Amino acid sequence: MCGIVGIVQRDSTKIGKNIIDSLRKLEYRGYDSVGIATIDNDQVVVSKEQGKITEVIDKMQLDDLHGKIAIGHTRWATHGPPSKENSHPHTDCKNEIAVIHNGIIENFQSLKEELVSQGHEFQSETDTELIPHLIEQLMQEKQMNLKDAIIHTARKLEGTFAICVLSSLEPDRIYCAKRDSPLVLGINADRMFCASDIPAFLSHTQQVVLLHDEEFVTLSHDGYEIINFRDMKKVNRKPYIVSWKPEMAQKGGFPHFMLKEIHEQPSSLADYIRIKQPSLNKIAEKIYDAKKVFLLAAGTAHYSTLTGENLIRKYAKKACSAIIASEYDSVSPLIDEETIVLPVSQSGETMDTIMAIKDAKKLGAKVLSAVNVIGSSITRHSDEVLYLYAGPEIGVAATKTYTAQTLSMWDIGLEIGKISGELGNNEYNEARRLFNEIPSVVKQTIVRSEALTNRIASWFAKKSSSFYLGRGVNLQTAKEGALKMKEIAYIHSEAYPAGESKHGPIALIEEDYPVVFIAPEDQTHKRMIGSIMEMKTRGATTIGVIEEGDKEIGELVKWKIEIPKGYSEMITTIPYVVPLQLLAYYTAVRKNLSPDMPRNLSKSVTVL
Ligand code: M6R
Repeated sequence: MCGIVGIVQRDSTKIGKNIIDSLRKLEYRGYDSVGIATIDNDQVVVSKEQGKITEVIDKMQLDDLHGKIAIGHTRWATHGPPSKENSHPHTDCKNEIAVIHNGIIENFQSLKEELVSQGHEFQSETDTELIPHLIEQLMQEKQMNLKDAIIHTARKLEGTFAICVLSSLEPDRIYCAKRDSPLVLGINADRMFCASDIPAFLSHTQQVVLLHDEEFVTLSHDGYEIINFRDMKKVNRKPYIVSWKPEMAQKGGFPHFMLKEIHEQPSSLADYIRIKQPSLNKIAEKIYDAKKVFLLAAGTAHYSTLTGENLIRKYAKKACSAIIASEYDSVSPLIDEETIVLPVSQSGETMDTIMAIKDAKKLGAKVLSAVNVIGSSITRHSDEVLYLYAGPEIGVAATKTYTAQTLSMWDIGLEIGKISGELGNNEYNEARRLFNEIPSVVKQTIVRSEALTNRIASWFAKKSSSFYLGRGVNLQTAKEGALKMKEIAYIHSEAYPAGESKHGPIALIEEDYPVVFIAPEDQTHKRMIGSIMEMKTRGATTIGVIEEGDKEIGELVKWKIEIPKGYSEMITTIPYVVPLQLLAYYTAVRKNLSPDMPRNLSKSVTVL
């Protein structure tokens, strides 16, 4: 949450435009306000305003800002509502030090009170504003230079932070520090970057330096210097070349990132399958040998872990639970040296998940993860990592990373099935054949369902509430479909086990109430027919995501969305979710909503 970027460049043209270009790539992290600090005529100049970049750019004339150095911020509000005053950057009393921040300072109240008693005047309700004042105070009181004062400030802060500091006192450099919030450097001969995420500078450089917790960076034209701000030891870390291409962070002709990312799924899934990862076998073996397994994740990622839970129970024949990361405390008493925790995450920065795995590690558990962003915090806390190789996902609603997460769960599950002998050679090979076909099934599904889901969306867009019903593994598909509809089309959507819906929720059904059934031709098929009948009888308008040629259900539902044949149970969770992504997307578009930037959300939830 919150996107931060800093640039030090050799020429002094268009720094405002350059920062804005980078901030646009980070807007998925928050879009409550935008702000930039530059140095002009030896003065810190701050321009900030409430709203998304497109709403404020002309008013603020951000493009016109000149200089060789700047920091910029796009906010997801935590302390203090969205407003100009609460927008970053924040400055000290003398307006010499400007700070942008992503994270939460837990001891901000006590530090702020102390600073107020020392005469500092605050303009905002944010936790961030204490940082420039504390730096200023340390410089005045302890006669520290700017760098030492920032290091001391970082040591005093409790909580999470990635901060960038710019000052008229040292106008040729940006200082940064981090703990638990993401921060990376982008290295280019003419322009150096620090940013929350790689897409911020991907169109300028693929040379990336990952920063670790408790690290402090000096960024200037001449390069970068990293030290650990606790023990002050120098850190020698060379850049690595990221394989992501600049166009991956652009819309590529699609009206929204979300639609582009839905369409990218055949290739992102194919990438995952093509890249053989040595960690896969190690992860499968460790899970098979473990006594207890907990899968930890949040939101969409949690739904993907339900596949993992199912398969580990089935193939490893062991107790295994998919736990919502923020509810981890309930299983903490069960964690010990014989436990595996398996976090699944797109960003690798979700704070609920990070906190859970940190605790599990302390209790002796091994951490094996499935993560999209290479080098992210979760990967650094992990003993083994299976990468999702889905590329950057900019749309706030997870789509291609959900299918990649689910595919990775199947991948691990199949390997466990082989190790345990639950899958014989022939069964394993057949399962792998179907597994390898998934990208093409997803491609066919997109082609067949896009126009239809767009049509259904024109009806769905008028609704205020809906049900998504599934059974077995596809209960998770129902949950993910309902989440998509909620988060981008703002239609209340409740996912329920189809069989359980008659135990209460059916009371909500009235004429023309939307009910979406996820009903492949597997062992749940007959019982799904019963559930559809129950809903239809009470007036529901039914939509079925069904197997191609399934006449029984095809004739019962009002709209049938067909998925290619031959994939019952085996990986249905991947193609069957695709029309639900499209349905949510087109419903949002019909309602004139912005699917890439839904209200109140941030892609990367780095607060508890
Ligand atoms: O980066 P992560 O996969 O850890 O993120 C987890 C959730 O915050 C995320 O999936 C969220 O639910 C998305 N809004 C889903 O579209």
